[in-house]
Amino acid sequence: MKPVCTLILPLFLTLSLFSGCSNKSPEPLMEALQSSDISGERLWERISEEAPYEDYSQWPGHEGLQPGQSPHGAWHRVYANKPLVDALPVADGTAPYGTIIVKENFTSSRELDKLTVMAKVEGYNPENNDWFWAMLSPEGEVLAEGSPGGCISCHSGMKYNDYIIIKNLDESLE
Ligand code: HEC
Repeated sequence: MKPVCTLILPLFLTLSLFSGCSNKSPEPLMEALQSSDISGERLWERISEEAPYEDYSQWPGHEGLQPGQSPHGAWHRVYANKPLVDALPVADGTAPYGTIIVKENFTSSRELDKLTVMAKVEGYNPENNDWFWAMLSPEGEVLAEGSPGGCISCHSGMKYNDYIIIKNLDESLE
């Protein structure tokens, strides 16, 4: 018993010391969501439990609370998962499959109001670049999901940039 304890206890202490240094856990690398089982609920499970979106990077060059436009709310913060961040800048302006972008929308008094999410799911909706769109409450209630006409038509002004508005995908990160 003793040798095990002498090994495990210091290991445990070291690990807790390190995890105490930062409250940000590394984002786990997950298999991309599939068109056969995508739904608002499935997406919430992915971004709240399997790979919590707060562990993603904030969009490079657009970090922190940013002033936003209608209909998204007065302030926003945008997170992008590893498959997208690792691919940036994307020369052909197309986000890779597996991309998840989570936008926190805040009221003018900076209270978190809604999450709006874009997830790139292979084969989900080829006509509109395979994005699955969702609007969720901060507690995960699904308020809109799938291919809402409103999301698509407003974002389609940026179709050349894969429907993404805040930044050009091919923009250099330097
Ligand atoms: C009337 C226009 C409009 C509509 C409708 C709209 N958006 Fe947006 N969206 C924007 C603008 C403008 C931005 C840039 C950030 C900002 O100003 O808030 C944005 C940014 C985003 C982003 C961050 C990534 C990016 O494209 O820049 C996500 C994710 C997003 N919207 C999701 C959605 C979802 C989901 C819906 C539908 C439920 C939706 N949007 C409906 C205009 C719109």
